[in-house]
Amino acid sequence: MASFSLSFLIFLLHFSSFLNNIMAAKHNHHHDHHHHINHNHSSPSTSNSSDSNPRLHQAFIALQAWKRVIYSDPNNFTSNWLGPSVCNYTGIYCAPSIDNPDIRVVAGIDLNHADIAGFLPDELGLLTDLALIHLNSNRFCGIVPSTFSNLSLLYELDLSNNRFVGPFPTVVLSLPTLNYLDIRFNDFEGPLPPKLFSKKLDAVFVNNNRFTSLNIPQTLTASTSASVLVFANNNYGKGKKFMIPPSIVNFANSLEELVLTNTNLSGCLPQEIGFLYKLKVFDVSFNQIVGPIPYSMAGLFHLEQLNLGHNMMGGAVPAGICELPNLANLTVSYNFFCEEDGVCLNLTSSRSKSKTKGVVFDDRRNCLPERRFQRSEKECSAALERPVDCEVDHGFGAGGGGGAAFAPVPAAVPLPSAPSLSPAHS
Ligand SMILES: *[C@@H]1O[C@H](CO)[C@@H](O)[C@H](O)[C@H]1NC(C)=O
Ligand SMILES: *[C@@H]1O[C@H](CO)[C@@H](O)[C@H](O)[C@H]1NC(C)=O
Ligand SMILES: *[C@@H]1O[C@H](CO)[C@@H](O)[C@H](O)[C@H]1NC(C)=O
Ligand SMILES: *[C@@H]1O[C@H](CO)[C@@H](O)[C@H](O)[C@H]1NC(C)=O
Ligand SMILES: *[C@@H]1O[C@H](CO)[C@@H](O)[C@H](O)[C@H]1NC(C)=O
Ligand SMILES: *[C@@H]1O[C@H](CO)[C@@H](O)[C@H](O)[C@H]1NC(C)=O
Ligand SMILES: *[C@@H]1O[C@H](CO)[C@@H](O)[C@H](O)[C@H]1NC(C)=O
Ligand SMILES: *[C@@H]1O[C@H](CO)[C@@H](O)[C@H](O)[C@H]1NC(C)=O
Repeated sequence: MASFSLSFLIFLLHFSSFLNNIMAAKHNHHHDHHHHINHNHSSPSTSNSSDSNPRLHQAFIALQAWKRVIYSDPNNFTSNWLGPSVCNYTGIYCAPSIDNPDIRVVAGIDLNHADIAGFLPDELGLLTDLALIHLNSNRFCGIVPSTFSNLSLLYELDLSNNRFVGPFPTVVLSLPTLNYLDIRFNDFEGPLPPKLFSKKLDAVFVNNNRFTSLNIPQTLTASTSASVLVFANNNYGKGKKFMIPPSIVNFANSLEELVLTNTNLSGCLPQEIGFLYKLKVFDVSFNQIVGPIPYSMAGLFHLEQLNLGHNMMGGAVPAGICELPNLANLTVSYNFFCEEDGVCLNLTSSRSKSKTKGVVFDDRRNCLPERRFQRSEKECSAALERPVDCEVDHGFGAGGGGGAAFAPVPAAVPLPSAPSLSPAHS
């Protein structure tokens, strides 16, 4: 996945020697010697065994504690987690320490796709040299222990596609060097903390959990730095109105990908979306958004994927959108758009790339007079009778205003079959 490569690249820049050593360790297991057998004669500082290296000894304690709470390991990833040579354990990567290159430490854990069932014990806080934790696609359950606050070098944390529960693991917000946070496809619940938005994270994936509010602060002064924010498939609008606040503009200098699919987003899109000049992907499909496409969006010159499908938007699809130089896929289907301007008329509705300008374009199920596969006149005239006032609607949070939306025509908007935003990297 592009975002992963990006964060990985940044990681390489920051930690190149460190990482190279982790990677080298992957291929150099045969260089290890059984120092635990004659540790009296080995130099403690370079030892690969926990017998004579206190940092590896701590790791040994942590990993043995972990192994004790692993209840199923069908692919035998942990069956060689025996004895003091922790650097030889499957999925455990050692490297020279950042603060002392003469000492080898556990710097990475990669158990992606191991299908392991168990939980994360408090002792993992002893692995203070970890830069990477990749536990994608396992069956770990329970919560993220608060002892993770000890992992002050952690750079990438991928807990995606597991069975973690409880509130957002706020302990990760205390990690000073964390850059990549991926907790998608778990059962985390409750609000996302506002502090998530003032932290210097490059990529945040929280999609497919049970989060109930997305508190993008309305005044967001800290220089945020996220390039990828994926919030999809959580219901942030349960019993309240969830709208994109104008303060989203504070992400303008970094944000390239914003995905809010199926989050019960309502109200109008703020003009500020158009100020996110680095955006490449903007996906707000399967929501209850009303009102027009903000004209400002015609300035998003880097935009490649725009998905507004399955909402209640209306008005015209402006020519400026269809003319965007990098646009590759434009989806406006299942809305109430009633006009397409200029070059939009020349785009052929197709869901494969073959047609006009190489843009994949989907405008089915709108109120477009000259197009095929549109809504019925009855549905369209019912919607047109209830115009949207986005100025009124802008009083988000302050209650009221919500009545300006179209009343959705129930049969016309099929419920989303949750789009998959699967954990992609391994
Ligand atoms: C690590 O494992 C390799 C085989 O995979 C073995 O040759 C080597 O002796 C082991 N090193 C230690 C320190 O146990
Ligand atoms: C080193 O070996 C001696 C015996 O030869 C033993 O008494 C001592 O405990 C050993 N040191 C360590 C650190 O194990
Ligand atoms: C520890 O392992 C690394 C990499 O496998 C190797 O370069 C180093 O020589 C080993 N140290 C000792 C004392 O064997
Ligand atoms: C794991 O180890 C058990 C017992 O040694 C063995 O029966 C099983 O086939 C192994 N599974 C895999 C996937 O290697
Ligand atoms: C945190 O790390 C230190 C070593 O750096 C260790 O002594 C301490 O026990 C760790 N705390 C927890 C809660 O694991
Ligand atoms: C979506 O949000 C509205 C309020 O805007 C709320 O009434 C509705 O119950 C929410 N839908 C779900 C499925 O929670
Ligand atoms: C275009 O975007 C839509 C909506 O995101 C998606 O379903 C479709 O697969 C995309 N088509 C191509 C060819 O990328
Ligand atoms: C649409 O295509 C026709 C024929 O290819 C061309 O003459 C016309 O200028 C195009 N319209 C716009 C707005 O680009």
